[in-house]
Amino acid sequence: MPRGELALVLMAAGKGTRMRSRLPKVLHPVCGRPILMHALELGRELGATRRIAIVGSGEEQVRAALAEAGYGDVELVRQAEQRGTAHAALQAKTLLSSHDGPVLVMNGDHPLYRARTFVAMREAWERSRADLEILVTELPNPTGYGRVLRDAGGKIARIVEELDLADTMKGIGEVNLGAYLAHGRLLFELLERVRDDNEKGEFYITDLVEIARQLGKSVDAARADDWQESLGINTKAELAQAEALLRQRLCDKLMRDGVTLVDPERSYVEVDVEIGEDTVVAPGAVIRRGTRIGAGCRIDPGVVIEGCTLGDDVWVKPGCTLEGSKVANGCVLGPNAHLRPGADLREDVRLGNYVEVKNSVLGKGTKADHLTYIGDADVGEGVTFGCGSIVVNYDGEKKRRTTIGDHAFIGCNSNLLAPVVIEAEAYVGAGSTISKTVPSGALGIARAEQRNIEGWRKRRFKGGGHHDQ
Ligand code: UD1
Ligand code: CA
Repeated sequence: MPRGELALVLMAAGKGTRMRSRLPKVLHPVCGRPILMHALELGRELGATRRIAIVGSGEEQVRAALAEAGYGDVELVRQAEQRGTAHAALQAKTLLSSHDGPVLVMNGDHPLYRARTFVAMREAWERSRADLEILVTELPNPTGYGRVLRDAGGKIARIVEELDLADTMKGIGEVNLGAYLAHGRLLFELLERVRDDNEKGEFYITDLVEIARQLGKSVDAARADDWQESLGINTKAELAQAEALLRQRLCDKLMRDGVTLVDPERSYVEVDVEIGEDTVVAPGAVIRRGTRIGAGCRIDPGVVIEGCTLGDDVWVKPGCTLEGSKVANGCVLGPNAHLRPGADLREDVRLGNYVEVKNSVLGKGTKADHLTYIGDADVGEGVTFGCGSIVVNYDGEKKRRTTIGDHAFIGCNSNLLAPVVIEAEAYVGAGSTISKTVPSGALGIARAEQRNIEGWRKRRFKGGGHHDQ
């Protein structure tokens, strides 16, 4: 039976001192998404109508990061002093004073929580009609976690934090995973009763269990079936561990979707990545968030792709960096090509080594095989850029656009000074610096004419000898 709309409260104000970082702990990315945003995504999947994050000293940084990432609807509350998790959760009371429905409070530092676990938790809460639902699991090494104590009847009696554990309790393997579900009114009523009379002198949210029982309320526990969900991030080592575990989940999903990962442990993929069937990803490729790759592509070692869309049958050779660009079917890039934001390569474009393209459209079948820079240009189909040709888009003050028509040929080592037009089927002679329109079908040539000085060598080296004698 549904019991009202869900509000999510994320506790994320902890200092994160052990991260040894200028960045607030919850902004550290795990597979390309900050820890806090993993929790917010979870809230979205659970259909939470309110998402509230309790934040600490890094509030401004967190607010800015959320706004930039499109989480402007998330409500932030500042916990000025970190006096414990119950104190943190209580900061949401005012915001939720008129909320008539369930409130799910959870640790904000568990990026491996799974949505399905919380769906099951809510179902368990509704089925059992318990007043308070907590989330637990069994761990082979429970050190550091709050332990779940049950009474003679097997009912949950209380949670005891590591520091307050009696020796006899240390063997208990059932631990608290840091999520608490109750109706809002009851939750805040219970939270206000929490005291700080423990070893650490903090207000522990875990005391809710014992307080509820004392008031004759019922407490039920839902079980998480994946130990990874217990992983809270407190150190850089735990951050790396979470990254590896989440990456493994993402890689498993890609392989189920038909992607060939030559070595899944060395395939660095982030969240929000889609790859088509039979695309082969080599070890050491880094595919960052916001990337879509079609089917039948080949992504070689040492390639870094971020925020790009690739069509089908694209081959990205070793060492390429692709950022914010579009690459249509059949293109071949690299080795060591660089697409900067706004590169838009149409079908069958071929870019060779040390070619950089920025904010430019390259028409179907255009090629630049070696050592070329193309910036701010509209390039037609079937254009050839010779080795070392450069679109000079920047005059030290302004960037200007260059237009190159279909089937134009740009000779080696030439400079096209923007703004300039090379019309369709025009030729640019090697070594030219072009600053005026080259009309269709014409050869534009702009270089000093060659002059040969007869007998020069003999005069230079008097005896007529070889220069290295
Ligand atoms: C907590 C639980 C423990 C559980 C474990 C699971 C308590 C008292 N203990 O321990 O039973 O096994 O999580 O990972 O809750 N926070 C604030 N304000 C504060 C203190 C903490 O916002 O004043 C936030 C932290 O940023 C963190 C979360 O609350 O995201 C949990 O706090 P943390 O100190 O990491 O608790 P644990 O010791 O891990
Ligand atoms: Ca923690």
